[in-house]
Amino acid sequence: MRSRLANKWVIITGASSGFGAATARAFGAEGAKLLLGARRLDRLEKVSSECHEAGSPEALFHALDVSQTASVESFVKWGRSHTDCVDVLINNAGGAHGLDTVAEGKDEDWEAMLQTNVLGVLRMTRAVLPLMINNPGGSILNIGSYAGRVAYEGGAAYCGAKAAELQITRALRLELCGSGLRVGGIDPGLAETEFSVVRFKGDTARAKKVYEGANPLKAEDIAEAIVWAASRPPHVCIDEMLIKATDQAGMHKVYRRPVPAPK
Ligand SMILES: NC(=O)c1ccc[n+]([C@@H]2O[C@H](COP(=O)([O-])OP(=O)(O)OC[C@H]3O[C@@H](n4cnc5c(N)ncnc54)[C@H](OP(=O)(O)O)[C@@H]3O)[C@@H](O)[C@H]2O)c1
Repeated sequence: MRSRLANKWVIITGASSGFGAATARAFGAEGAKLLLGARRLDRLEKVSSECHEAGSPEALFHALDVSQTASVESFVKWGRSHTDCVDVLINNAGGAHGLDTVAEGKDEDWEAMLQTNVLGVLRMTRAVLPLMINNPGGSILNIGSYAGRVAYEGGAAYCGAKAAELQITRALRLELCGSGLRVGGIDPGLAETEFSVVRFKGDTARAKKVYEGANPLKAEDIAEAIVWAASRPPHVCIDEMLIKATDQAGMHKVYRRPVPAPK
């Protein structure tokens, strides 16, 4: 059966790694046309060619920094030069910076988290909505986090940002009710991507420890859920999905198998 997503135009922010890159490949495999954005163009170029290989008729990319209104506007202007009708917007760009307590928190980390996870979602949505508003059946899917629902020590700004993202998703759904557009939130738990490398500012050994002994989610698990949500019939809206690894029963309860000591 032909995919409901074939030839649909899909914008994905943060498509250069992790969930965004896997989601781009998954939409590509459905035959969707892609407009991919992130700051690392070399990575986007690689993802774009993987999307073509997967079956995407168009996998275009352009620089995007969601923390800058001017960058968001020039990305959307570029998108408009390819299509005046966007079917799916995936607000995925974001992440965590640092794991400091509030007492030790750094302004630059807080600002980066709020700029990307909160303001980035608002800016992108405002800029893309004119390309979606006359297109009932379109979807806006925001990638939040389990951290937006349950707080943890050292996560005040990140948990706060993702909680804000969840409320933005809910408010937007109310605002767009009657337009035929769907608005959903997908909240992953522990998932092994570049997330922890970014959080720990390139300390890969510390990042690896986050997942040690556990069997975390993979980027592809979330990509599959995003594609499923976007491909429901137009009258069906997947409001919210909370997706956790089987080993993660709670924020503070992750099952970890014994790890053999290094020889
Ligand atoms: N992994 C997890 O455990 C987990 C769990 C729940 C939620 N999440 C959320 O899932 C989303 C994707 O994260 P991930 O796990 O896939 O991590 P990742 O591998 O680090 O990917 C993050 C993506 O966001 C992009 N990005 C970051 N800042 C940006 C900016 N200012 N402008 C444009 N793009 C930006 C990065 O691209 P560039 O650096 O090239 O710009 C990259 O493509 C994030 O919103 C994250 O908070 C992750």
